[in-house]
This record gives sequence, C-alpha cells and structure tokens, in this order.
Amino acid sequence: MYYCLITGGASGIGLATAQLLLKKGEKVIVVDKNKPKVNNNNLISFSLDISNRNDLSDFLIKLKKDKLFVNRLVNNAGFQENVDILDITLKQWHDLFKINLEAAFIISQQIAKQMIENKIKGAVVNVTSIHGQIIREIAHYSASKAALDMLTKEYAYKLAKYNIRVNAVAPGAIDTPLIRKDLGNEKLIKEASNQIPMQRLGKSEEIANVIEFLLSDKASYVTGSTVIVDGGLSLVI
Ligand code: NAI
Repeated sequence: MYYCLITGGASGIGLATAQLLLKKGEKVIVVDKNKPKVNNNNLISFSLDISNRNDLSDFLIKLKKDKLFVNRLVNNAGFQENVDILDITLKQWHDLFKINLEAAFIISQQIAKQMIENKIKGAVVNVTSIHGQIIREIAHYSASKAALDMLTKEYAYKLAKYNIRVNAVAPGAIDTPLIRKDLGNEKLIKEASNQIPMQRLGKSEEIANVIEFLLSDKASYVTGSTVIVDGGLSLVI
C-alpha cells in the first residue's frame, strides 16, 4: 500500500487534507516542524524543519530505506511574514524561499525519481496562493508562490509521460492559524470577509476537498493546472 506524503500536515490546510484521507482509510505520512494531534494507525509523522537541507535529506533517505513508497505528494508547508518590499533582507528572502519553494523542488524531485524507478502512477499537488498572481504587498511570499506555480508546470510537463500528474491549488483567505496571525480578532475577520464575494473566509476542509480531487483518479486528465479556491476573492482584488 502506498502513502500520501503531506508537508505541513500538523495544522490548517495540511492537517485537514491528512484527516480527509485518513477518514477514507488511506495511509498518510506527515512531515512538519510540529507533531499532528491525530491518533491513527494509518498515520506516520516525522518532525523536522523542511528548510534544513540535512534533515530533509535524511528524511528522504529514511523513506527509501524503510520502503515507505509514496504515490501522492502534497507540498503544502508554507511560511508568511509581513515585511515591506523595501525592508526585506536577503536572509528573510532566502529563509522564506527555502520553505515555500526549495523544499517543494527537492521533495518533488526525489519522490518523482522514486515513482519513475518503481513505475508508480502518481499525483502531486502544490499549495500556492492567489497571491502568486495578485500582489499581497509581501513580495518574497508572492514571488515564492508564483515560482511554485511555474515549478508545477515544469514538473507536470516532465512527468506526464510517466503517468504522474502535477497540479496546484491556489487558496484565497482561508481560516487557519496562518491567517489568524494577521487577522487576530473578529472585527478584522469581518472586514476581510466583507471583501470576499462569498462574504466569508474559506475553511481548510474546502481546500482539502480540492486537493483530494486533484490527487484522485477523478482528475485523471488534469495536469499542469492551478485551481483557484477563493470564494471569488481574486475576481475583485
Ligand atoms: P498553517 O500555519 O496552519 O500550517 C502550516 C504548517 O506548515 C504548520 O503545521 C507548520 O508547522 C508547517 N511548517 C511551516 N514551516 C515549516 C517548515 N520549515 N518545516 C516543516 N513544517 C513547516 O498554515 P495554512 O494556512 O494551513 O497554510 C498551508 C499552505 O497554504 C501554505 O503554503 C500557505 O502559504 C498556503 N496558503 C494559505 C492561505 C490561507 O489563507 N491560510 C492562503 C493561500 C495560501
């Protein structure tokens, strides 16, 4: 039996995706700085910082050594910090790119090679953002997500002939701990909600549903796409 590997699966969108797959009896590997607060025999979790190259490399070697074969990958872990473009330091730029882009590049490459070697039919979903296309006034974040959308297309093109599909989901404003850092009180949540055509933030489960679809055979002819899931927000900003 194959596993679905989810980065950043201890919270928000990643956790909702893990829980949805586990509920369906699927096997899941979560890699996150934190341990997911979920008990399930079908869940294996690894605690590490994916921006640490050595730890990430050790983790990928361990997967191979322990014969934990992955047929679906969700590159979901992401980091966001509010810094003006004129103040972003090179260290802040690099630190964010290591999490939001480089880790997805490295993990996808290793997992794709393993899928090809073992003739595994696979699917990858990258969690980007509507701010890969629309400014967010957090330049390093938006640039990392735009790059991840492009990386999605490059991998999709390369891997199509091996029966491996690669897509992205671009969420709008989703009610997770990440967004609660910015919108810390109900008044701010209400103001943000009023901007959204559907008049509310999205739920993690609503992103998880689309990720699950893209991972599944229901999306058997979908590759290289970015699916926007934002309650209409990108129509108006
Ligand atoms: P979250 O903060 O609830 O969850 C992110 C998870 O990633 C956390 O469990 C965290 O520990 C883990 N993580 C972060 N950096 C890590 C690292 N270096 N190594 C290992 N694990 C790490 O955030 P949320 O909202 O669920 O975000 C998931 C993805 O969705 C991110 O890529 C984010 O950019 C993207 N997104 C979220 C939106 C939102 O409104 N919540 C909107 C658009 C995109």
